[in-house]
Amino acid sequence: MTTPEPADRVLARASLAEGNPTGWFDQLYTAAARGEAEVPWTRGQPGIDLTAWAAEHPGGGRRALVVGSALGDDSELLAAHGWAVTGFDVAPTAVAAARARFPESTVDYVVADLLDPPPAWHHAFDLVVEIMNIQAMPRDFRPTALKSLASFLAPGGTAIVCEVAEENMDMANWQSPPWPFSRPEIESTAQDGVRLLTLDTIRDGARYWATFTR
Ligand SMILES: C[S@@+](CC[C@H](N)C(=O)[O-])C[C@H]1O[C@@H](n2cnc3c(N)ncnc32)[C@H](O)[C@@H]1O
Repeated sequence: MTTPEPADRVLARASLAEGNPTGWFDQLYTAAARGEAEVPWTRGQPGIDLTAWAAEHPGGGRRALVVGSALGDDSELLAAHGWAVTGFDVAPTAVAAARARFPESTVDYVVADLLDPPPAWHHAFDLVVEIMNIQAMPRDFRPTALKSLASFLAPGGTAIVCEVAEENMDMANWQSPPWPFSRPEIESTAQDGVRLLTLDTIRDGARYWATFTR
C-alpha cells in the first residue's frame, strides 16, 4: 500500500503547472480549515529563532513588516515586544484566520503579494522579517521577491532573511517546494542601498539567518 501524497504537494504541483506560484497556499489553508489537510509549517507558536532575536530587540513603537504572516504567530510575538506590526500574506484565508485567532491584536493583518506589494511600503519599515516564504516560490520569482523585500526597508532599519541552506542539503534527492537558497542568493538581498550585516547558519547548518540594513 502506498502512502497518499500530502495535500500541500498535490495542490502545489497543480498550481505550479498552471504557472501560478502562490495559488496553492490559499487552497491549502482553505482545505485545512475544513479539516481536510494539514498546513505543514503551522506550529501554533512563534519560531524559536525569531523568539530569541525579539527578546533582545524591543521595538519601542517602531514599524515591523512580517512577510508571509500565515496564522500570525511571528507577528504577535513582535507586537508583544513593542513593534507596530503589519503582517501580510498572499492567502486571504490565512489572513482571516490570523485576525480570528487574535481578535484583540494590534497587528494590521493584510492580504498582499510580495511579488506586487503596495507602493506605500517603500522604505517604510524599521524591521522586515522574511522567514521561509521566498523559498516557497520557484526560483524564477526570486529576483522580484528579493527586490520587493529590499524596497521595504527604511534607512537605519533591519531586515532578517531566513531560508533553508542549499549547501547543507542533499539536493540530488530534494523534492521542491521549497527551493533552498544558496549563499549568493541570500546575499543578493543587499541591493538598492541595502547592505549585508551578518550571515550565519542556524539549526545545525540547515538554515541561513542573515541580517541587513540600509
Ligand atoms: C512556508 S509558509 C511560511 C510561513 C511562516 N513565515 C513561517 O515561517 O512559518 C509560506 C507563507 O508565505 C505565504 N506566501 C507565499 N508566497 C507569498 C507571496 N508572494 N506574498 C505573500 N505571502 C506569500 C504563504 O501563504 C504562506 O503563509
